[in-house]
Amino acid sequence: MTVTQGTLRILHLGDLFFHRTLDVRASLTRLLDDLCGPEPGLGLEGIDLIVACGDFSWQADPVDLAACCRFFQDLTSALDLDMSDCLLVPGNHDVDWSYRVYDHWPISKDLIDETPTDLRYIDGKTLFILKQEDYPRRFGNFAEHLYKPLIGRSYPLEPSKQYQLFHHKPGNVCLLGLNSCERIDRFYNRRAGLNPLALADALRAARHENASLRIACWHHPVSGKDGLENESTVEQLISAGFRLFLHGHVHGDRRQDFLRNVGQTWFIGAGCFNRALIRGQVRVRLYNLIEWDADKDQVQVHQRIFNIFEDRWLPWK
Ligand SMILES: [Fe+2]
Repeated sequence: MTVTQGTLRILHLGDLFFHRTLDVRASLTRLLDDLCGPEPGLGLEGIDLIVACGDFSWQADPVDLAACCRFFQDLTSALDLDMSDCLLVPGNHDVDWSYRVYDHWPISKDLIDETPTDLRYIDGKTLFILKQEDYPRRFGNFAEHLYKPLIGRSYPLEPSKQYQLFHHKPGNVCLLGLNSCERIDRFYNRRAGLNPLALADALRAARHENASLRIACWHHPVSGKDGLENESTVEQLISAGFRLFLHGHVHGDRRQDFLRNVGQTWFIGAGCFNRALIRGQVRVRLYNLIEWDADKDQVQVHQRIFNIFEDRWLPWK
């Protein structure tokens, strides 16, 4: 599909939390009704890109990820897109916590002294020591049961290789996907950050991309309580010409957590697409349709909120 009327349209989803009991067909129908239906729908004739910012299921369970696969297959088919028009990055819920990546030992001073701080966790009288060779396997289910069936190639488990950079020719945009969860596990669930080696390689490769717009995405917000530990790395991306930063993970109802722009740089959060109840708290359900007018170099973000009483998506006013 070519970009129509000089405007690039990006469907921006996050925190999809697919589950085997969730009605994939209903979720898809409501989204398509909103995108393509008459007012209060967006009345679009098409979408150019889909960016999905992680948390595809609740626990990276293969059966739940299969439900998410069906959703994306049907979505791309309905919008006449193929998976080369999609960018998927993992979230903290795409880390398989059931995969044991720590050995545990009775606590001892010698063991503590000889184990680097970021490779250990202490719980009462037990010392957990990270198994470095097994650690990347936490993304095995995401790689095998979601990424490969959809994208058609393997997702690299080696953290320094976890970047996807591609040039979307119809829109003349450069897209970069990174993993902000490579140091997150069941003990350290707030250790968000970007791998410096992956980032350096991605920036090197991006230099050769002659694009009108550069977009970067990962799961976590740049700042705030769940923000990146190495927030300053984002400056490198801005210096390299990246202007749109898309993320997921935020679930509150404060608009500034979802949308912020500083000059020509935009930070856009997708909210929670499917799940209204998280850890006993009711959350707003949101997604974004982002339009970039290439001729005017303008960005417009349509934030869509799910109204449970009308059982449909509406503009977030
Ligand atoms: Fe998350």
